[in-house]
This record gives sequence, C-alpha cells and structure tokens, in this order.
Amino acid sequence: MLSTQLTVNGKSHTLKADTRTKLFNVLREHLQLTGSKKGCDHGQCGACTVLVEGRRINACLTLVAMHDSQAVTTIEGLARGDVLHQLQASFLQHDGFQCGYCTPGLICSAAGMLSEVWLSVPSHATVDISGMSKADALTDEEIRERMSLGRGFGAARRSNH
Ligand code: FES
Repeated sequence: MLSTQLTVNGKSHTLKADTRTKLFNVLREHLQLTGSKKGCDHGQCGACTVLVEGRRINACLTLVAMHDSQAVTTIEGLARGDVLHQLQASFLQHDGFQCGYCTPGLICSAAGMLSEVWLSVPSHATVDISGMSKADALTDEEIRERMSLGRGFGAARRSNH
C-alpha cells in the first residue's frame, strides 16, 4: 500500500492504494466520482479523460502513485456549483452527444485542448509554428486533430512525461 495525496476538484484526499492502482479506479471506486467512463481500458477511446495539473490524461493508463501532490479535475469539477463550464453548456446547447457515454471524457479533453491552444502548443495540423495564433489553432482541422489526440495514446504519452 502506498499513501498518495491528491487534490481532486479542489478537495484534498489522502489515499492508501496498491502501487498498481490506476487513477481511473481511484476516482471511481475510492472517491465515487463516476463521471469518467471506461471504454477500452487501453488508451484508445478517451472516455476516461481527466485533467491532471490542467493537462488532459487518460486515467485508465496512469497509476495514481505517479500523481502524488497533484491536482486532478474530473467532469464533476468543471462546473462551479450550479453554473456549468462553458464547454458543458455548449455540449448541451448544441446537442453534442451520441450515446453520451464518452461525453465527460470529450468535455475534459476539449478543456485540455483549449488550454494547449492558450499556451500556443502546436499540433500536427499546425502549418506555421512561428506564426501560430490562437485563431489558427481553432480551425476545424486543428480542432479535429487536437481532439483526436485527446482520445488516444497521444494525450497519455504527453501527460506522462
Ligand atoms: Fe479508453 Fe481510457 S478507457 S482511453
């Protein structure tokens, strides 16, 4: 057993868990935050995406022990009380769902994507890194590329460095 301190959605938690315990399992089973979903358990679908230190990560691919003293935001933590995060409100307004199972992960991934754009992090679709502006980074092609990264191995790989 290993003791890990996490701040999840603004609340501090000290957890004792087996060293092999995934962040995903801690969120759902220890903290009862069931918004994150398990689709593939292999980093392929992104349904489990949460934000760690503001960066998107596939919670099914990372061990909780790797995130001691870090801040985690799940879909439950994006809203401010009864006020939805703009992305949550937009998904509702524009009916941005299919079956809805992966929607929490999609919204967390979109929040992480916008942070990356804000920080001028280029994507594979970025044509001119030196001249990159936030407007360039929000073209349909850029958004498709950035969201596809958030749904698979890319997000986990970047977050585990
Ligand atoms: Fe599919 Fe984590 S459950 S990426």
